[in-house]
Amino acid sequence: MTQRLAGKTAIVTGSGTGIGAATATLFANEGARVVLADLDEASAQAVCADIVAGGGKAAACHVDIRDADRIETMLAFARERFGPAHILVNNAGMGAQKHFLETPLETLRAMLDTNVVGTFLCAQAAARDMVELGGGRIVNVASHSGFLGSSGRAAYAAAKGGVIAMTRVMAVDLAQHNIAVNAVAPGPIDVPRSRSQHTEERRTAWHRAVPLGRYGEPREVAAVILFLASDEASYVTGQTYPVDGGFTAAGLRVKQI
Ligand SMILES: NC(=O)c1ccc[n+]([C@@H]2O[C@H](COP(=O)([O-])OP(=O)(O)OC[C@H]3O[C@@H](n4cnc5c(N)ncnc54)[C@H](O)[C@@H]3O)[C@@H](O)[C@H]2O)c1
Repeated sequence: MTQRLAGKTAIVTGSGTGIGAATATLFANEGARVVLADLDEASAQAVCADIVAGGGKAAACHVDIRDADRIETMLAFARERFGPAHILVNNAGMGAQKHFLETPLETLRAMLDTNVVGTFLCAQAAARDMVELGGGRIVNVASHSGFLGSSGRAAYAAAKGGVIAMTRVMAVDLAQHNIAVNAVAPGPIDVPRSRSQHTEERRTAWHRAVPLGRYGEPREVAAVILFLASDEASYVTGQTYPVDGGFTAAGLRVKQI
């Protein structure tokens, strides 16, 4: 195993499950000291215990990314345990699926609050530590829904589109501090939530719509996040990388051409 993040402190939000858990685990395997933070602290503790049992350096804490005070507590925890964070992965998020005409205002507000306000608050607070450190990396987790008009996604798409737009501006404003900001836009990923919530019909529709013909694995998203968090991406900032098996690249697809 390479040690691409040796000597770095990394915070991964929403790391109790799915893409966040895979990212935290990969980062620890690459030598990072990882803080796992989640609204569901028990799940973050469980992933943390696995990492530590495997010889990695990790610690877990509670965070609610909608709450500036809880974010300050998370950053203080990171500083105390491992030193200030060089890397932040804004992975915590939530989705919603409702026809536009039936989407309540509260759903839109909840999507914006977690996905946009949460990303903004975590990045702003962590970037202040990175300025002191002389640089850093922020990777935001957006979605294919920030690019395309998938049905029933008005509230979620507005939020993830906001994350993509904010990624560009954060990158421009933070460049003078040697802080790179990028994002990934996953397609359908085989996480516990999608395994339990997606019907057979929906899974089949995804298999047809994705040129690679399958859901992605959390580790396949984590691999791109690792690249963006590593020194290998030293001249990359302000970009959003689809990790979607070709979904956003495809238009009309006729079978077996
Ligand atoms: N799985 C997919 O198919 C997919 C596709 C595109 C984008 N995404 C995005 O990837 C990210 C991770 O999603 P996932 O599917 O791997 O996991 P998930 O959606 O099942 O879990 C998200 C994690 O974030 C945590 N969380 C939610 N709200 C929080 C808050 N306010 N404060 C702190 N933690 C909070 C949850 O407790 C959970 O552990 C999300 O931003 C999601 O929108 C996922």
